[in-house]
Amino acid sequence: MNDREASGAGRATRRGFLRTAAVGAAVAGFPQILRAETLGGNGPNSRLTMAIIGCGNQAEVDLKEFLPLKNLQVVAVCDVNKASGGYKTDRQFLGREPVRDMVNKHYAAATASGSYKGCDMTADFREVIARKDIDAVALIVPDHWHAIMTIRAAAAGKDIYCQKPLGLTVRDGQEMIKAVRSNRRILQTGSQWRSTAAIRQFCEAVRNGVVGQPRKVTTYVAKNNFDGPGPGWKPDPVPGGFDYDMWLGPAPKAPYHKDRCLYRFRFVADYSGGQTTNFGHHSNGVAMWALGLDETGPVEIRNMGAEWPAAGDLFTTATKVHFGARYANGLELECVTDPKSFGVRVEGSEGWIETNGKKIQGSTPAIAGWTPGADSKRLYDSPNHYSNFVDCALARKEPAEPVEIGHRVSALCHIGNIAMKLDRKLTWDPKAERFDGDDEANGMLERPHRAPWGYGEPT
Ligand SMILES: NC(=O)c1ccc[n+]([C@@H]2O[C@H](COP(=O)([O-])OP(=O)(O)OC[C@H]3O[C@@H](n4cnc5c(N)ncnc54)[C@H](O)[C@@H]3O)[C@@H](O)[C@H]2O)c1
Repeated sequence: MNDREASGAGRATRRGFLRTAAVGAAVAGFPQILRAETLGGNGPNSRLTMAIIGCGNQAEVDLKEFLPLKNLQVVAVCDVNKASGGYKTDRQFLGREPVRDMVNKHYAAATASGSYKGCDMTADFREVIARKDIDAVALIVPDHWHAIMTIRAAAAGKDIYCQKPLGLTVRDGQEMIKAVRSNRRILQTGSQWRSTAAIRQFCEAVRNGVVGQPRKVTTYVAKNNFDGPGPGWKPDPVPGGFDYDMWLGPAPKAPYHKDRCLYRFRFVADYSGGQTTNFGHHSNGVAMWALGLDETGPVEIRNMGAEWPAAGDLFTTATKVHFGARYANGLELECVTDPKSFGVRVEGSEGWIETNGKKIQGSTPAIAGWTPGADSKRLYDSPNHYSNFVDCALARKEPAEPVEIGHRVSALCHIGNIAMKLDRKLTWDPKAERFDGDDEANGMLERPHRAPWGYGEPT
């Protein structure tokens, strides 16, 4: 039995409001869009309507996966940026307008007329969340928005594909769990390695004792791929078509600089935990899946030599990630920046096994080539992270990485950042999710939010 049924994630609480002819349904040749709710779940024509919130670098990747799904219709896109270059590469020209056009172009190919204009766009995510004809949202925005948008979307009855990490702080994740569970929503954490065949095989090999008793796990994260402007940087003028105040949202007010926002936000601690939470959510998440640690955390965490940008730089996240953690059973985890970018290595009493997500290597051919037998313990099987979300939302089942697991993985990365920053050994209570006897460290488990962006009732 691999599937987790979504406890209490039934459709009973969905609003009675049913709009059967949704945006774009009138376009000749395109199948009528019926909300999942309208069809009562998993009928053959059941289709989830979804909005993309955040039309940047990763949205382009995610859309290529979402658009071909036959039981999903993207009906709206939202971004505070109308259109501009300057995302991860100079070639990426993104924002709500080009991404809206990308969606329309994709669906146009399925119509007899070859034209389609059914995808709406807006700069304000609250408009999308208020729409009754939208079942789900994909949150592909910077990390400082994940919790607030999730809480509002869940309260409005949306299912949620939320990019990893689940928020900026441990408190963010805790609030996301409350919102998702109290509103009986489905949330898939956007960490697609959980739906990758080689990763599942690697995790099953470890769970089935291929390296004996695991003693140490090493998780690799990528080097920073951009440098900051350095100390003495000067603000830039805010570009036209960019709602900078809405980009900042709950984060502190700060002068605009192009390196603060699109893509490079991941190197500024007000919006991200850096590569610790960026790549770290991937590699630490695989380690936790392999070792059966999805529902817990370490008991001790310490700095092992992290490095930071120069004082006064705009970039403030670690330039070298390096922390260690110890679990109650004595297992050691080491998370470190490495040219491998992404990877996980488990050492045990009988040998070692390692994966980069594509290939598996081991200390012996038998370890590297392990395959499951009839009696082997099997793990959740999701061949595609995106269709897994859509299928689970329609069937009201738990997806590959539900909110609690996403939170536990992100929490390990967050407390790793805290230990590196404070540069001292910290004792962690994984049940209470608090540090023992360290007020300063506990104070870093949450951050103040700029008004009006609290966790509370949507304004
Ligand atoms: N799963 C993966 O492998 C993977 C890879 C890259 C990024 N990500 C995650 O995706 C998220 C986005 O990263 P990215 O690289 O796409 O960043 P990005 O800066 O390229 O894109 C984010 C977009 O969100 C928009 N945005 C910001 N605030 C908004 C708001 N209030 N309303 C609407 N839009 C808003 C920005 O204008 C921008 O276009 C991050 O959480 C990141 O961790 C995941």
